[in-house]
Amino acid sequence: MTQINQAAWLVEAGKPLEVREAPMPTPGSGEIVVKNAAIAINPLDTHMQDSGVFVKEWPAILGCDVAGEVHDVGADVTRLKKGDRVIGHAINLVTSQPRDGAYALYTVIRADKAAILPDSIPFTHGVVVPFALEAAVCVLSVKEPGTALPGVSTPALGLPYPSLEDPAESPRKTLIVYGASSSVGSMTTQLATAAGIHVIAIAGAHSVALCQRCGASEVLDHKDPDLVHKAVTAVKDSTFEFIGIFDAISTPETYTRDLEILAQVGGGQLAAVHPPPADVPGNVKAGMIFAVDDVAGPVWREYVTSALEMGRLKALPEPVIVGKGLEGVQLALEKYRVGVSATKLVVEL
Ligand SMILES: NC(=O)c1ccc[n+]([C@@H]2O[C@H](COP(=O)([O-])OP(=O)(O)OC[C@H]3O[C@@H](n4cnc5c(N)ncnc54)[C@H](OP(=O)(O)O)[C@@H]3O)[C@@H](O)[C@H]2O)c1
Repeated sequence: MTQINQAAWLVEAGKPLEVREAPMPTPGSGEIVVKNAAIAINPLDTHMQDSGVFVKEWPAILGCDVAGEVHDVGADVTRLKKGDRVIGHAINLVTSQPRDGAYALYTVIRADKAAILPDSIPFTHGVVVPFALEAAVCVLSVKEPGTALPGVSTPALGLPYPSLEDPAESPRKTLIVYGASSSVGSMTTQLATAAGIHVIAIAGAHSVALCQRCGASEVLDHKDPDLVHKAVTAVKDSTFEFIGIFDAISTPETYTRDLEILAQVGGGQLAAVHPPPADVPGNVKAGMIFAVDDVAGPVWREYVTSALEMGRLKALPEPVIVGKGLEGVQLALEKYRVGVSATKLVVEL
């Protein structure tokens, strides 16, 4: 039977998505085609829709997170086969190719950015993992600074990958994750603690349980007027080497607090998700992550499936299913713009 592809196309910046036919993608070497069962909404998608940023080819298909069945396999793919249940990170952000966008019935995924999803985890849950996972590995395990945007370097914390074993007790390190209820913040907390890092989380008071499920040792309320003092005390009490702050929110307000904390603990890394302040003190190393990097390859290959099976990696934050079918994607983007708290919006296909 001939398969027909459809996509929710962005025809022009600032316009609603239009659902219509799309070319049926074929996988190149090292690629798979996924028949999507669920896709997730990321803030990047709303920025791309609003401004057309990063889009080089029009019309465009946006979206970075897919879960579904492998429909077709390209040459040199040995780890995955037709019919496997998978999650994957779609990289239209980098390639600007419509075939690489998630908001379609079929999407091309690089096999090294995909992993088998255990049968016990529904597609609608597994789909919260891919882009956040890739971002979290880029926060933690990049070893050499690169370039995120012209003139903005990437941070290089050089921390170990998450482990399926209990990581060695020593030498341990302490990291603050600011915005730990967000998708990227909660995934960074999970991967850091699975690498033996002691995480002090900063999140809303209603997200304490989520941060603890992700492995945080301590959770501080981001609305507490005494936040800076409490964070400094937590760092000084931790006895482990302090690495710095991953700021998953990266606004002027959070940067002010980051720099106040770093000033009182003797400096450290400031890893941000947007360009950090240009004028940081000499003892602060600031950089912006770029969440598409081959550094995540070993984590996709060797960690994700087993860790999900063992419950060591959890599909968090919990998804909220906001629609069915490609027509639901525009609605989901609008819901995202209203705001989310400790959740990921998901559309079932
Ligand atoms: N540079 C890159 O490569 C890259 C990659 C991925 C994402 N990003 C960026 O990273 C950011 C996070 O993305 P995401 O998908 O993780 O976002 P998200 O899950 O949609 O973030 C929403 C969460 O942020 C929390 N939050 C908002 N303001 C906060 C504050 N002042 N302090 C602490 N928590 C706060 C909210 O907590 P409450 O419940 O308390 O409201 C909510 O749970 C976005 O700006 C995105 O564009 C960048």
